[in-house]
Amino acid sequence: MLTPDQLIQYQRDGYVVLPHFKTPHAIARLRERAQAIVDAYDPEHEGQMVFTTNEQTRRLNQYFLDSADKVRCFFEEEAFDSQGRLKQAKALSINKIGHAMHDLDPVFVEFSHGPELAAVAKDVGLQQAQIWQSMYIFKQPGIGGEVDWHQDATFFDTTPQSVTTFWFALEDATLHNGCLWVQPGGHHGPLRERFERFGDKVSKRRIDDTPWPSATTGAVPLEVQAGTLVVFHGFLPHYSAPNRSMQSRHAYTLHVTDGACSYNATNWLQRGADMPVSGFV
Ligand code: FE2
Repeated sequence: MLTPDQLIQYQRDGYVVLPHFKTPHAIARLRERAQAIVDAYDPEHEGQMVFTTNEQTRRLNQYFLDSADKVRCFFEEEAFDSQGRLKQAKALSINKIGHAMHDLDPVFVEFSHGPELAAVAKDVGLQQAQIWQSMYIFKQPGIGGEVDWHQDATFFDTTPQSVTTFWFALEDATLHNGCLWVQPGGHHGPLRERFERFGDKVSKRRIDDTPWPSATTGAVPLEVQAGTLVVFHGFLPHYSAPNRSMQSRHAYTLHVTDGACSYNATNWLQRGADMPVSGFV
């Protein structure tokens, strides 16, 4: 549950940092489970070895789209050499696991639910929380990719806006290993882009010309300890730098909307009647 000060901070800045939200034990279990998922992942079998052909692009696109209600591993862009071979061990080449572990994997289910999370969701205004997406992000040492400035509402549009991100640090996140950057108060600005899906085609379209922030225009790094939960508003611009350090930066995110709002049919991630979206409890 948020204190009055934390709530004021959330409304003013668009985010709130909650240290020690998860125990070291809970984090260790999640990390172990993620490792087991990666160990069991066979990229050849899944057709995920990357080559620069149109056919491969089409397959990667489909692999992504079909992951909405599955548990799938995705490679780092820099994981492969020019011959399409992994440059380092598979376990150090995976960018993320997504996008439905919170519904499908018992260890992730436990981590992603509970009265504490439900209380925070309620406090930040989610009357009927709906968890659409989970991502385990590795931000691997040396090759962990940059994530450009964006707003999560680009991917999860509701009317009115409701998407809220729950970002858990599973390791200390620092300037060296690619911590989050945010623009305090930036959630008061407009939504700049929309990522839309029509059939099996997805595209991102600019809808507002407001420039992205930078370190010289008010963006700040969020260096946080493992166990910290950062909750942020769907319009908050955020970014993370590439990880050129020798230390990974594991994080776990949940993207949550309010069931009282209408969920846009052009959002890429949809759920069928066989696996409806669920809340924190
Ligand atoms: Fe994001």
